[in-house]
Amino acid sequence: MANEFMADRVTSLKASAIREIFKMVGQSDIISLAGGNPSAEIFPKEILASLAEKILREEGTTALQYGVTEGYAPLRAKVKKDLKDKGILHDTDDALITSGGQQLIDLCAKTLINDGDVVAVEAPSFIGGLNCFRSYNGKLIGIDMEDDGMNLDRLEALAKKEKIKLVYTIPTFQNPTGITMSLEKRKRLLEMASIYDFYILEDNPYGALRFSGADIQTIKSMDDSGRVIYAGSFSKVISPGLRVGFGAARADIFDRMVVCKQVQDVHTPCLNQMLVNKFIEEYDFDAHIKKSIDMYKEKCAKMISCMDEYFPSFCTHTVPEGGIFLWCSLSGDYDTKKIMAECIEKKVAFVPGATAMVDIDKPCNQFRLNYSTPTLSDIEKGIFIISEVLKNVGK
Ligand SMILES: Cc1ncc(COP(=O)(O)O)c(C=O)c1O
Repeated sequence: MANEFMADRVTSLKASAIREIFKMVGQSDIISLAGGNPSAEIFPKEILASLAEKILREEGTTALQYGVTEGYAPLRAKVKKDLKDKGILHDTDDALITSGGQQLIDLCAKTLINDGDVVAVEAPSFIGGLNCFRSYNGKLIGIDMEDDGMNLDRLEALAKKEKIKLVYTIPTFQNPTGITMSLEKRKRLLEMASIYDFYILEDNPYGALRFSGADIQTIKSMDDSGRVIYAGSFSKVISPGLRVGFGAARADIFDRMVVCKQVQDVHTPCLNQMLVNKFIEEYDFDAHIKKSIDMYKEKCAKMISCMDEYFPSFCTHTVPEGGIFLWCSLSGDYDTKKIMAECIEKKVAFVPGATAMVDIDKPCNQFRLNYSTPTLSDIEKGIFIISEVLKNVGK
């Protein structure tokens, strides 16, 4: 059907290829290395069930009544304290609870991006972030990734040529590459933000999931110019279905984001915020997160050892220190969308790299693998099948 009646900002959006893949994955016996979910084995179902009952019986009115846009006060206080302890929340900042980290990206874009404003993004990047900036008519420009994060020479060359409004980065265990930005690059990015007068959205939903290497300071914690907006989330450490995230920004930006959130959903569901709050209060949150870390460490190591054993030499991969993804690159003019179609026939799925690029129609010789959801034996089977397909296309 013709869609001239629809606003330009939505007609340019493409359906997420990952969602299309999920439809296939859901329908059959396919081994999915395409997911972006945390492992469901980690969900604290029994604990949340008893907390939900307790909350509804003892504080049912608060849980079921309208709440405050900025967030349920006890949870917001905990989040603010944690962000302050980590140096992320400065005296000139404020923090709010959002409906997932995704909403913080949206609030940031809505607050900062006018039609045609340049948004520099990592290439590849998180599709939910890219689509968000697209929906506000931002002019997306991809900056290639290096082993230690975004190529800042390229970013600087762009800054000299065009006025950049916002740089969107996922510096720690990036989706989709698993790459972590080095401390030197974080510092240089901040310096460049002051020199070239742009803002930075630091999206950090995976930061707590480090299984090797040493922590690196967040960009926001080193920022004394008020140019960094920070997004965090409970999705990957408690449950994505609860849709509870958070963010911090300079007070004037925070104020505008709160007004935008009022328009979007008034507030994040009270019951969900109260569940997260009680879970953190009454249980050992660090021990809970450690379960995910231990599991992802084992699964990532398994995936890497299988790739090292089976993959042909023209396929290289990143070695993440945390998070849930790694990224594979083929040397040569391959189109991983086509390779993906062959793999699907052989019952294994991954995410073709083009879906995470600014130009999603351009053939891409890279792809994303997820290790948080498949079992160890499915990881081995899946990697073996992909490697057989790769060897065949590489002939
Ligand atoms: C980099 C990145 N940012 C943000 C999100 C959004 O997460 P949520 O809205 O569930 O907090 C995701 C989810 O996969 C992500 O990978």
